[in-house]
Amino acid sequence: MRLSVFASQEMKNILLKNGQIYINDQLVENDLLISDSKIKKIRKNISIEGDEETIDCTGLQIFPGGIDPHVHLHLPTPAGFSADDFETGSRASIAGGTTSFIDFVTPLCGQSILDALYLRKQEAKKSLCDVKLHVSPVEWTNHTEKEIIHCIHNEGIKSFKVYMAYQSTIGLNDEDIFKVMKVIGKYGGIVTIHCEVDEIIEKYRQQLLSEGKISPRYHPLSRPNFVEADAVKKAIELAKHAECPIYIVHVSTHEALDHIHGAQSKGQPVYAETCPQYLLLEENLYDQPFDQACRYVMSPPLRKKEDREALWQAIADGIIQTVGTDHCPFTLEQKRLGKNDFTKIPNGAGGVEHRMSLLYTHGVLQNRISLQEFIEITSTNAARIFGWYPKKGIIQKGSDADLVVWDPKARQRISAKSHHQNCDLNIYEGFDVQGLPKYTIVNVTLMTRI
Ligand code: URP
Ligand code: ZN
Repeated sequence: MRLSVFASQEMKNILLKNGQIYINDQLVENDLLISDSKIKKIRKNISIEGDEETIDCTGLQIFPGGIDPHVHLHLPTPAGFSADDFETGSRASIAGGTTSFIDFVTPLCGQSILDALYLRKQEAKKSLCDVKLHVSPVEWTNHTEKEIIHCIHNEGIKSFKVYMAYQSTIGLNDEDIFKVMKVIGKYGGIVTIHCEVDEIIEKYRQQLLSEGKISPRYHPLSRPNFVEADAVKKAIELAKHAECPIYIVHVSTHEALDHIHGAQSKGQPVYAETCPQYLLLEENLYDQPFDQACRYVMSPPLRKKEDREALWQAIADGIIQTVGTDHCPFTLEQKRLGKNDFTKIPNGAGGVEHRMSLLYTHGVLQNRISLQEFIEITSTNAARIFGWYPKKGIIQKGSDADLVVWDPKARQRISAKSHHQNCDLNIYEGFDVQGLPKYTIVNVTLMTRI
């Protein structure tokens, strides 16, 4: 049975008293008044004006609400939809202190980008917190350029996503990626990009299956490090010639980081994201019976210790700007569709609920990253890159009241039995975390951990 650990209440004004508030890169004890979904005042001794709910935040820290730049809610796949929809996924996200996220618009081949965008906006209305959408051109047609420009000028879309992988469905070839980058660069957008060389993956997959190698163990062998690194190198080249900023999603290898660092050092606008799973989990998890190993099948796959360490270092060095989750959970029943063929296991895993507590526990408390870096990678940088700043990603007068009141001492053992994600699997099952939201405030709604 799932435990409901959050109660929510709608209120017009909220006064947070005596919290350690993260302002100007440090924690300072202050009061914070929220009125009509915005931060109205931050200073000591704000007096009660009347109808506000007062919350004692002594011993608690107040951060800008988390922003997860990479989630896939209710994603259609051959194995059915990913297990969280906008309602359940946003509830899980809020439970973990993430108050906004960015999902995707992935049109079907032949479908107009704008039709797909309008349908996805409808679905996103179920979300309990603010949502943005990255739009994916999945083919280059006579309408693509016009539709991209329309998205930028009329629909508030700044970011797009292209896939070098998945060529048989949503992937684009290099020539079309270049065309997409050229128009998005010209009109001031940014291209986010999934970097894996599809031809190599397909060749390895066919070879492994023909040798009877069907178990999840072979998933990482079909996508070795250079599959990502070569694609990252190519993406950087294409973006340079197209004069388009790029954001490389879910970076998992130390070789890819070398290419990214090289481009950044030359002043090219290249941003990088990694995910908690690549920072915390390793390839040996595939060496288990199917029902255990299948839950880690995601693309790119889990890597080795040297990659994990390089990723942590890259955050501390500012090479990686954000940590998204690539939240895309599938149930055990869905994963079992690949029991006799690892290429049929739906790719992806959940994590939107745990991103902040995992990064706090394994980053801040283990001195891998500072508190400032924690705030930047969980919130501020995504807000800046994707056009939400300073409405979100910072605590200042006038910004949205998307806040997390953090209890740095609270502990939890992560489990699928108690999480809010709508899935019977959790890739962090049994992980102990310290540092959790006591309250999450989303506009006028206050969620309390009880
Ligand atoms: O394995 C993954 N990452 N699944 C989600 C879809 C994608 O490739 O981003
Ligand atoms: Zn993804």
